[in-house]
Amino acid sequence: MTTASAEPLISTSMAGYLAEHPGLRYVFFGGKGGVGKTVMAAATAHQLAKSGRRTLLASTNPVHSLTSCLGTDCFGKPTRIADVDNLTAFEIDTREAIERSKREIREKIQWFLKFAEISTKADEFVEAATMNPAFEESAMFENMVDLMFKDEYEVYVFDTAPTANARRLLGMSKVYGLWVEKMLKSREEAQSLREALSFTKKKEEDPLMQYLVDFRGRIAHARELLTDPEKTAFFFVTLPEALPIAVISRFIDWFTDFGIPVGGVIINEVISAADAKTGGEFVRNRVDMQHGYLDEIRERFPGQVRAIVQLYDSDVRGTAALQKAGAELFG
Ligand SMILES: Nc1ncnc2c1ncn2[C@@H]1O[C@H](COP(=O)(O)OP(=O)(O)OP(=O)(O)O)[C@@H](O)[C@H]1O
Ligand SMILES: [Mg+2]
Repeated sequence: MTTASAEPLISTSMAGYLAEHPGLRYVFFGGKGGVGKTVMAAATAHQLAKSGRRTLLASTNPVHSLTSCLGTDCFGKPTRIADVDNLTAFEIDTREAIERSKREIREKIQWFLKFAEISTKADEFVEAATMNPAFEESAMFENMVDLMFKDEYEVYVFDTAPTANARRLLGMSKVYGLWVEKMLKSREEAQSLREALSFTKKKEEDPLMQYLVDFRGRIAHARELLTDPEKTAFFFVTLPEALPIAVISRFIDWFTDFGIPVGGVIINEVISAADAKTGGEFVRNRVDMQHGYLDEIRERFPGQVRAIVQLYDSDVRGTAALQKAGAELFG
């Protein structure tokens, strides 16, 4: 695709980026709702698997579409994709993951109330801890981190939720760190006070403290992995349209501020020159509009566009369609 300016829109392609980052292990796709994140994540996972790397394609998006995109039911459990060597897909069961987190929190709160000799029912505390909107995101973040730490695959491709969640998810790791730091300090103070007041002077075991120390370690490790540009890349999918461009501009600024590596921008659903020629006035108008936005993308994201994928006449579903999209994404 050529537009008015002389600069080529793509300087380093998607294939070029992967070649320059051979140690890439955690690949993410973000962008406005419905722009093609799942399709790009699936096509990328296909490509990585074909290159011989054991790949997990995982969706943390509560609105699932991996199963329909791949044509293989992968809901709730890692599932091998029959016709692609090295590829496993997994739609995380969001509800189940959240329920499990709630159960774990309940156990900890119950333990703590007993430890602190507070005779209150845990329910209220559990509700306060789990009703806030960040809880579900944090449960999904934990799930994602669990998968990463299990280290069963060489590459992980994550199809993330469409909103600001992805960035908040990662920003939270910093907040978590600070929060746990504070918690640990007050736990230490409480513990020494307890020991000072105790007649027996016997040092008590504190499993909650141990949990917090472990938790802090996990968060720090996750942050280390997710901010390492050799291991991690976030790709942002946009259409040549105003709103999706505005969304990824914001994302890219946020991610850059957080020190999270931005792999680049993928432009999806661009009307091909051949379709533009045969189409009527409606199509030509759309093509003119797209050209204007392609110029805007060139200006806003210099050197960051990795691929342009054309608009197909049908949905991208199943291996054959994914391979076609993958050929454009990596071609
Ligand atoms: N280049 C394309 N040509 C034609 N259809 C496409 C193209 N890219 C994606 N689609 C179709 O558009 C729809 C949305 O794509 P997809 O599910 O990948 O978007 P998404 O960003 O993951 O959406 P969500 O935000 O809901 O997760 C799907 O039906 C998909 O098959
Ligand atoms: Mg999706």
